[in-house]
Parts: sequence; structure tokens; C-alpha cells
Amino acid sequence: MATPDVVTMDKIVSLSKRRGFIFPSSEIYGGIGSSYDYGHYGVLLKNNVKAEWWRSLLRERDDVVALDSAIIQHPRTWEASGHIAGFTDPLVDCRTCKRRYRADKLEDGQCGEKPSKRPGEGPNCDLTEARNFNLMFQTTVGPVQDEGSTVFLRPETAQGIFLNFKHYLQFARKKPPFGIAQVGKSFRNEITPGNFVFRMREFEQMEMEFFVPPAEADKWYDFWKQARFDWYVKLGIRPDHLRLRPHDADELSHYSSATSDVEYLYPIGWQELEGIANRGDFDLSQHAEYSRQNLEYVDTASGERYLPYVIEPAAGADRATLAFLCDAYDEDEIEGETRTVLRLHPALAPVKAAVLPLVKKDGQPEVAREIVAALRERLQVEYDEGGAIGRRYRRQDEIGTPWSITVDHQSLDDRTVTVRDRDSLQQDRVAVDALADELERRLRAPWRSPKLNGG
Ligand code: GAP
Repeated sequence: MATPDVVTMDKIVSLSKRRGFIFPSSEIYGGIGSSYDYGHYGVLLKNNVKAEWWRSLLRERDDVVALDSAIIQHPRTWEASGHIAGFTDPLVDCRTCKRRYRADKLEDGQCGEKPSKRPGEGPNCDLTEARNFNLMFQTTVGPVQDEGSTVFLRPETAQGIFLNFKHYLQFARKKPPFGIAQVGKSFRNEITPGNFVFRMREFEQMEMEFFVPPAEADKWYDFWKQARFDWYVKLGIRPDHLRLRPHDADELSHYSSATSDVEYLYPIGWQELEGIANRGDFDLSQHAEYSRQNLEYVDTASGERYLPYVIEPAAGADRATLAFLCDAYDEDEIEGETRTVLRLHPALAPVKAAVLPLVKKDGQPEVAREIVAALRERLQVEYDEGGAIGRRYRRQDEIGTPWSITVDHQSLDDRTVTVRDRDSLQQDRVAVDALADELERRLRAPWRSPKLNGG
């Protein structure tokens, strides 16, 4: 049973804007649909999400290597991958209200006329036949716009990995099973984007293609499903808000023989956070055919040669950031006042510690700045001396800072400070010289969402 939650999408959107995590793009021109910009705390948070993803693959394993490929690739890429022919959504237009809907998601749409109804159900609705609409953004390279200059913004980071597979066999001296991981922007001209950063036209993916001997594909598919589920749990997402959902046969992408989604219970309901797919040898065999290159792996010892199968965990950095925000959002009451607090895993928190002089005089700001300078070498810290101490605590709670360090009159006598814990509100007195080690110890300690205890 999922625990009851105070979070709503409106609260997340409003907090994100108020505290500069994420806000609508191009706002001075009235905004541009479903494009968002990440502000200071949003950048720090999303960077931490991506850093934890890289850490789990590159530092904690020795069978995954990194890549950062170009966004614009040779146009043949998308013929081989099947995106030109098949990366489409069925689309219908309403001749009356001129709105556009996904034909397979009419139940999620809203007719443009009042009283509001589902598209096709209003008295004046006049829908066209469904036609397929390719989701790739098209542009041209070079000064002449002719057929040969048409290129596409990549709709997934995955294909860049397949194009480079041969390099990795040669230069990285890797043999299956091994993975190539990449993080970067992808672009899809979604017909019905929405729900904040959940579905955008420009978004960031964290994808890994894990190349395996065909006979081991099922084993590795099971392995990565579990490993990716566990990654979210380790970073504090409540397990009762996560599930693995296998795709039905009619949902599978053209390349996949099996896919499971890690789904999160967002305030808008259960939705895909990440997909784990068994892509078989679809991509390598397509690129081998279209490029006329041999992409087989050859075992020099046994002489065995084969096209590896691919297991792909494909995550969205924006959807993950949104899930971490939603799961962390909480409200409680302190001294009769409602407090908004982000109970983020400390590893993800944008700022690890805030250093706050109790008063702006008596040498306290100087000691506080000295502490900031020392901590800064090891952690993301922030100095704040503006306003009553209670208000400063609330500001840090709202951005999820796990520890607030207060410098008070006693600090000047005995060089100790108080460390306030965001979740338990406990205050401990710690020697200034032991502070950095103590914070790093706390940062590394296992962490469990306090929301699991009932709220
Ligand atoms: N290479 C396989 C692939 O791209 P996908 O399920 O289409 O699979 C993987 O995308 C992940 O990328 C999704 O689980 C989601 O987290 C993210 N994603 C896809 N489309 C998105 C969009 N329009 N806005 C935000 N994130 C998106």
C-alpha cells in the first residue's frame, strides 16, 4: 500500500519556480510550450542525479565505459534504426477547434470548445482520419537546403552508442558482456507534451547499451531490471512508489523482444520512469547492413564470432529529477507553522550544508565564512546571514539542505557549532575542526526516507 502523500504536481511546479529549480523557458516572450529551464538548485540537483547514475556504472563496475556522441548524426543512422519509418505517433486534427491530438490517447485529450469534453465527443467536434506524424525534428546542414542536407536531432542517445560499437571493441579492448553509457539531450516533437518536465520536446536521457553473448541475454535482462529498480530505492525513493511493469506484446517497440518499465507513482499516477529493453541484435545488424561494416565480435582465442545482443536500461534525467522531487516533497508543522521540506537523499541534495551566523555581528560572520571556506573544498555549501534564523532554516528546508550549521556566541569561545538535521530537527554540537569529517560521514551513511514512517 502506498503511503498517503501531501504532494501534488501544482506544489512541485510552484516550489520549483519559487526556489529556482525549474521554470518555464523563454518566459519574457510568453514561454514556449513544454520547454523548461533549470535554475541554480535545479542544475545542482540534476547534476547529482546524473553523477549518481555515472557512479553506479563507471565507478562501481568495471564492465561499463563512457561515451559522449554527437547530437546530429549521419542521416542513414535513422533509416537503419527504423526511426524514419516507424518513430511516429498517430495524429488527428479537429477541423472545428483546430487542435491536434494523439489518436491513441484521445481519452487524455480535451476538446477545445466549452463545455469541455473528450475530443470527438463534443457536439461540434469534427476529427480528421488519423495520420502518422514522425516525432523527429528535422533541420539542414550546410548552406544549401536540398534533400541531401536533411539531418535530424537525435530522438534517443542510444544510436550514437551503436555507431561507435566498433571503436570500443578496438580501443577499449572490451569483450561482451560490457556496456557503453551516455548521457545527453534528445529531442522529440511530441504531439501532446505536458505535466511539467515529465514529457518535453527537449529532454535529457541516461542510456546504457549492454552488449552480451546472445545466450546470456535473458540473464542480463533480469539483472538490469533489478539493478535499475534498486538504484532508485538506494537513492531514497520509497519502494511502495516504484514498480516494474512488463510490456504487453502490443506495446513493444519495433526493436524489442521484451521490455519492462520502472514506473513511479507520480502525483499524476503511475508513469514510466525508465525502460529496460532486450533489443536483441536488431541495431547492430541494421547498422551492419546499412553501413556495410562488419560489426561482429570475434573472440580471438576461440575464433567464435557473433553479433552481440543488447540489453538497454534507458532512463530520463528529467523524469528521475521530477520523481526525486515528488518523493521528497513534504510538509510538517514546527511551532505552529507549516514548513515545506524536501526530504532528498543527502547525496542528491543541491546543497549539503548551509552555514548560518546566528547574528550579523560579534565576529560570528567571520567564523562562519572561515567554516564555509574550509567546507567548500569538500562539499557544496552555502552561506546565509539574511533574516531571522528560523526563516533561514525554512529556506534551506525548502531546497532540501540536509544540515544547517549555526555559529553562535559559544562558537567564539570554544570553536564548536550546532549541526541541525533537516529531518529529525536534532541539533548536535560539533567541533569546527571535526565538521567536514562529520558531514562526510553523514553523507555516506545509509539513508531512508522519513516519509516511509508514515507521511
Ligand atoms: N533508447 C530507448 C528509448 O529512448 P524511451 O522509453 O523512448 O526509450 C527512455 O525513452 C526514457 O527517456 C524514458 O523512460 C523517459 O524517462 C525519457 N523520456 C522519453 N521521452 C521523454 C520526453 N518527451 N520528456 C522527458 N523524458 C522523456
